[in-house]
Amino acid sequence: MNPKLVLVSGGSRGLGAHLVTHFLESGHAVGTFARSKTPLMDELAERFPGRFEFFAADAGDLPSLTPFVDRLIERHGVIHALVNNAAIGQDHLLVHTPPDMIERIIATNVTAPILLTRLVLKRMLLQSEGGRVLNITSICGLKGYNGLTVYSATKGAMDAFTRSLAHETSGRGILVNAVAPGFFESEMSSVLSPDQLDTIKRRTPTRQLTTDAQLLPVVDLLLFTDTNITGQTIAVDGGVTS
Ligand SMILES: NC(=O)c1ccc[n+]([C@@H]2O[C@H](COP(=O)([O-])OP(=O)(O)OC[C@H]3O[C@@H](n4cnc5c(N)ncnc54)[C@H](OP(=O)(O)O)[C@@H]3O)[C@@H](O)[C@H]2O)c1
Repeated sequence: MNPKLVLVSGGSRGLGAHLVTHFLESGHAVGTFARSKTPLMDELAERFPGRFEFFAADAGDLPSLTPFVDRLIERHGVIHALVNNAAIGQDHLLVHTPPDMIERIIATNVTAPILLTRLVLKRMLLQSEGGRVLNITSICGLKGYNGLTVYSATKGAMDAFTRSLAHETSGRGILVNAVAPGFFESEMSSVLSPDQLDTIKRRTPTRQLTTDAQLLPVVDLLLFTDTNITGQTIAVDGGVTS
């Protein structure tokens, strides 16, 4: 296996933490950032010395993230992949969602990943070794849900971004895709009651929530396999959007 450098946004917990751990266990070098450090970040730094770097930063803080990305490249060589995973959710009907919250969801889930992608893409293009961009979107970008209007709009926006960016980068060996998970257990989905989770399970053709483990093979395929897949959103949702 050829070790590669992967940058994951929001790797401190939830799906991001599973992705970071999996990439490290697979032998890759990983950089991640989030606003707060979790104990797992220190554990991973100890378990994988020299291959893991955590940086405390807000996804919208490009002036801080730029030197972090450059430091990663300096230490670990060419950057192979960016996984735009960090996002915040929503738990209110639109009429009860304050305007500043709407702006924060859009800034975190759309503006920040687009700016980070631009930053990383420039470096990938200079390296001339191709690369991968993977956006973690959601079934909410493909299907309607109460209380998730703004969140859904941001995920649909990232799916559209994925398609057009894939066209811009196609001649340069850079594949751009999105994975749209169904609901899985994490802090973000902890606002769902056991009753709501049961309803989601009942309405899912496979009768189960998505798990991190079920997302990993799809992520590996899109990041580390020589495929001709680009511009796609792949739903991993037990058939909910089929
Ligand atoms: N959970 C679900 O059911 C579900 C379903 C479909 C898709 N998704 C998508 O899957 C991805 C991961 O979700 P998750 O459930 O694992 O979320 P999570 O448990 O809430 O974790 C989110 C991660 O992003 C970081 N983050 C959030 N806002 C940030 C900011 N402004 N700057 C930097 N880092 C930030 C968080 O750390 P800090 O808070 O410390 O910054 C954390 O590391 C998201 O894109 C989400 O939309 C989730």
